[in-house]
Amino acid sequence: MNGATSLKDAATGNAEALAARADRAELAVYTRLPFVPVRGEGCYLFDAAGKRYLDFYGGHAVAITGHSHPKVAEAIAAQARQLLFYSSAVLSAVRVEATELLLRHAPHPDSRVFHCVSGTEANEVAFKIARKLTGRRKIISFERSFHGRTLASLSAAGLPKYRVTAGPVLVPHHVHIPFGDEAALARELDGDTAGVICETIQSLAGIFAAPDAFYRRMAELTAKAGAVLIFDEIQTGFGRTGTYFFADGVGVKPDLITLAKGIASGIPAAAVIVAPHLAKQIGSGDQGTTFGGGPVAMAAMKATLEVIESEGLVENAARMGALLLRKLTGMTGIKAIRGKGLLLGLELDRAASPVVKALIERGVVAGTSSDPQTLRLLPPLIIGEAQVNEFVGTLTPVLSHATA
Ligand SMILES: Cc1ncc(COP(=O)(O)O)c(C=O)c1O
Repeated sequence: MNGATSLKDAATGNAEALAARADRAELAVYTRLPFVPVRGEGCYLFDAAGKRYLDFYGGHAVAITGHSHPKVAEAIAAQARQLLFYSSAVLSAVRVEATELLLRHAPHPDSRVFHCVSGTEANEVAFKIARKLTGRRKIISFERSFHGRTLASLSAAGLPKYRVTAGPVLVPHHVHIPFGDEAALARELDGDTAGVICETIQSLAGIFAAPDAFYRRMAELTAKAGAVLIFDEIQTGFGRTGTYFFADGVGVKPDLITLAKGIASGIPAAAVIVAPHLAKQIGSGDQGTTFGGGPVAMAAMKATLEVIESEGLVENAARMGALLLRKLTGMTGIKAIRGKGLLLGLELDRAASPVVKALIERGVVAGTSSDPQTLRLLPPLIIGEAQVNEFVGTLTPVLSHATA
């Protein structure tokens, strides 16, 4: 098949033909959602027939500034025209500018940033830093957490369903304890513990947070044990929970914060924010990755940070999250609502996956999770009251039907 045919299948909305060809050419990854977006604008996606979808999923929490935000798209295009790529082996003004903007929000003054490409890579680097700098081996993570798909990230996964995808051999010295269990944490933090990694709100699991005080206790216990505290803010980072980082909201200053997903609005980019006491022990040559900190990714990150600031998206996430919570509380079919800001899990009285299908048919995209009854909401941080009303107005009749 040639490129012209492929464009034709997408442009004419021949989703079945495209699916058949994808199945022959691509390795299977996720369960495929039943729509084919060909264009995005703000909170909306459009298929080839022009049908509009309100996106409350964001392509796995990525579209934080919405789809194809004009300022982000323009920054990417301008940078691509000027210099599409050179590695971090050279100085780059756009990288310095993006990094300085990012560091304005770092928990510790004088932190440093390592730029990489994916969330799992950022976590891999965090494990490496923790182990190398402490000279210890053990990494503690929490049951039901998810940290990515490399062998070490999978070994840290608290969801056994993902750990088994690593095959017969996991990376040793990873232990998993119940989320929020202070006694278990105190017990496991021993002289061989290099680090503790915490997915701040367990998203893939179905949106589970611990009580605020637990995060602070985790920080105290980890510091006391001489281990490195890693906050995986790959979903919560950059404003989604109503503060720049989730860590700010619970009053914790982690040693390492890992970021990815929306930090460059969809251009692959990830980062590790490294506290100064660790950064000063990391020398040239200890880290590196070809594409990390590339000019297009940095232009996208800089523009994303500027948009977040100029459009007040952190505050908006808090406001719209509260509005959603108010409007969804007590709705027929919803048993509980978990999460914070614009990272919400609606525990339904029925399976979530048919609800997602029904919503997509009605022009709204939402997500499922590892919990079969939890509907996951990860909308762009730019949503307004109109989108909240549209979502609620679409979900209400879907859930008012009797449980299947
Ligand atoms: C909390 C968390 N950590 C890590 C990852 C892995 O990120 P990536 O898919 O960019 O490797 C994800 C991705 O879903 C995530 O949600």
